Amino acid sequence: MTKIISFATQKGGSGKSTLSVLTSTAIANRYGKKVLLIDGDPQQSVIDIYNRNKENTRYDVLYFNWATKSKNDYRNLLFEVGKKYHYIIVDVPGKMGGEEIYNSILLSDIVCIPIVPRRTDIASTVKFLKVLPKIQELRQKQGFDFQIFGIPNKMDNTIESTLIQKLQGVGGLQLFNNGLSYRIRYDRNLSTAETIVLGNTADEFNNYMKEVEQKLM
Ligand SMILES: Nc1ncnc2c1ncn2[C@@H]1O[C@H](COP(=O)(O)OP(=O)(O)OP(=O)(O)O)[C@@H](O)[C@H]1O
Ligand SMILES: [Mg+2]
Repeated sequence: MTKIISFATQKGGSGKSTLSVLTSTAIANRYGKKVLLIDGDPQQSVIDIYNRNKENTRYDVLYFNWATKSKNDYRNLLFEVGKKYHYIIVDVPGKMGGEEIYNSILLSDIVCIPIVPRRTDIASTVKFLKVLPKIQELRQKQGFDFQIFGIPNKMDNTIESTLIQKLQGVGGLQLFNNGLSYRIRYDRNLSTAETIVLGNTADEFNNYMKEVEQKLM
């Protein structure tokens, strides 16, 4: 069965594109799974990164243009391509208001929300989380469900960072124990071909991937 894992939140710059790429790369490289990464964002950050490394990348990427396509097109796409992949990872566009974020979440098995532990980001995440149960109810009526995970991103040692714990359980959110710190290596030109660190080293990214394996795969 194909699993659809969406990285979504209305808060800009929180790491949706970064985490989509890092996670897709590691799943394809380390587990030998067939992965499709869908870029649903008109900024096409994922496509830009992919174009720099596509020869060596082990997963497929495609851009879904919500401006010219409908939710039925999206549903059909997932249905058609789904059979070919173990995982479909989606970089969901960030703007609330349009139908795209709503429909992307509605058609997810797992919703991953990158959360930057700062006051303004947390406040905005709470608003976003409160919308999710309504979408989940609709998905359940259709005979499916999704799980919601919060992934701390751009963590640092400030006291503010501890505020993120308050989000545990809000709208059904399960917080990851392992997130990513604010580190320059995540901000460099990311590769879609190379996993960011060697697998068997003590590294926060490997801890994050262990949790991905346990909870999302
Ligand atoms: N853990 C991190 N450490 C350092 N820089 C990071 C980290 N995560 C993301 N960044 C950088 O922060 C910026 C925003 O990240 P990214 O583009 O992934 O966010 P986004 O949620 O996709 O944003 P948008 O809403 O614009 O689509 C990028 O320059 C990215 O390289
Ligand atoms: Mg993005």
